[in-house]
Amino acid sequence: MEAVNRAELAGKLAEIEHRMRQAEVRGAVASYIPELAKVDPARFAVAVALPDGTVLQAGDAATPFSIQSISKVFTLAIALGRLGDQLWSRVGREPSGLAFNSILQLEQENGIPRNPFVNAGAIVVTDAILAGHQPRAVLGELLHFIRLAAGDDDIHINRAVAVSEQATAHRNIALAEFMAAMGNLRNPSALTIGTYVHQCAVEMTAIQLARAGLFLVNAPGCPRLVAPARIRRINALMMMCGHYDGSGEFAYRVGLPGKSGVGGGILAIVPGRASIAVWSPGLNTNGNSKLGTEALEHLARATGWSVFG
Ligand code: DON
Repeated sequence: MEAVNRAELAGKLAEIEHRMRQAEVRGAVASYIPELAKVDPARFAVAVALPDGTVLQAGDAATPFSIQSISKVFTLAIALGRLGDQLWSRVGREPSGLAFNSILQLEQENGIPRNPFVNAGAIVVTDAILAGHQPRAVLGELLHFIRLAAGDDDIHINRAVAVSEQATAHRNIALAEFMAAMGNLRNPSALTIGTYVHQCAVEMTAIQLARAGLFLVNAPGCPRLVAPARIRRINALMMMCGHYDGSGEFAYRVGLPGKSGVGGGILAIVPGRASIAVWSPGLNTNGNSKLGTEALEHLARATGWSVFG
């Protein structure tokens, strides 16, 4: 991987922002969560956090957006910290090749979700950290973890987004109820889904998200919230499963572990070097940010950043 010149990197981010602002085909903003449908599709942000805490940015990098499924990375880190490898008796580590909210595979595989990033898997992870606790305490722990990682206390849950998702959470409730039927849910599904929709409604700016991702970069100067061996494994899961049935395409085009959210954000990790957050609300057909992926592809090409050398 090439060393990066900060001035050149800043110039590259400005160039990418300019290019993405002008794109006419921007993808479709998620509408199944009504509150997310209100977001302006013209928004665009990119932020790169370096291990010494420096953040380079362009665009709407100080505007909060709904992190949605990117929250699954933080809950996974918390669950692994609390349960260790026991978690893997309830959720797998294989790519699903199916949509993030698919019900199909779950029945064929007896209520054990393929991985912790598809909705069913993330619901199991949330259920695991909820056991023996109140939702309020679990959400408090999640916010504490994210704030510590980002070095910023001004990170909150958007209640309107959580309420909006809860009102239309039929598929997630179906996934949770099916897992309950198969003995893979420990709490009442309403409690687990209530916690899950609130975790997805965490709002962060691209600057905050890039900084929060530094705990996965594993370089001197980065927050030490997770052991290095576990960091590698979370990155492996992000690479293989972080973009659902678009994970292969993302790995091919960007070459970095990444996690997307239907709010249009993507967190990408350059091991040992940087954490990158992009935000563009329009999604591709896999439910991943269309221009966010394009921006990361440009950035990876310009910097030479790739886990594949
Ligand atoms: O459960 C859901 O459907 C949403 N709260 C999160 C889905 C999501 O972000 C998928 N990612 N691209």
